[in-house]
Amino acid sequence: MEYFDLINKRYSCREYTDEKIKKEELNKILEASNLAPTAVNFQPQKILVIENPETLKELKEGTKYTFNSKTILCVIHDTNVSWHRYRDQRDFGSFDSAIVTTYIVLAATNLNIGSCIVCSMDDKKVREILNISDNYVIDSLITLGYPKNEGKINSRKNLDEIVEYR
Ligand SMILES: Cc1cc2nc3c(=O)[nH]c(=O)nc-3n(C[C@H](O)[C@H](O)[C@H](O)COP(=O)(O)O)c2cc1C
Repeated sequence: MEYFDLINKRYSCREYTDEKIKKEELNKILEASNLAPTAVNFQPQKILVIENPETLKELKEGTKYTFNSKTILCVIHDTNVSWHRYRDQRDFGSFDSAIVTTYIVLAATNLNIGSCIVCSMDDKKVREILNISDNYVIDSLITLGYPKNEGKINSRKNLDEIVEYR
């Protein structure tokens, strides 16, 4: 799909069919995510694929935004690997994860797979459920599935509210 069509097509999909996305499609999405740039190419991210029905059920205790998705990705980054800016020690790992997350949702859109980025969660609970060690920051969950309905495209601010030339 042409890039500008693709970014116009993506929206947060919150209703999925009961069908799990195909393994080949998931692999394509994961391959696409691996092309994302990261600071100093340190690649601190890990992507946890949650498809086990028991774990998906448990995950509902960590967030109410699972939308009964059959495939949920959890993007985390290792703070021992991520780039920390020398001057102020700022950790850019979540920035890396945000780009990875973007690559994932756009790749999904290109395959006609719906997605929703979810950050509203009890990350302590999610950490426990997914057995994530303390050196990782949990950056996002991404629900994936075939959309049940036509998507609704959200509005945006006008560009002149966002862009300033200085
Ligand atoms: C960092 C981030 C966190 C988000 N967290 C949630 C969430 O917890 N639950 C949810 O339903 N949507 C979540 N969203 C989706 C946003 O609500 C959605 O992207 C926004 O309303 C714009 O709509 P659109 O994605 O359909 O264009 C999140 C999106 C981003 C980028």
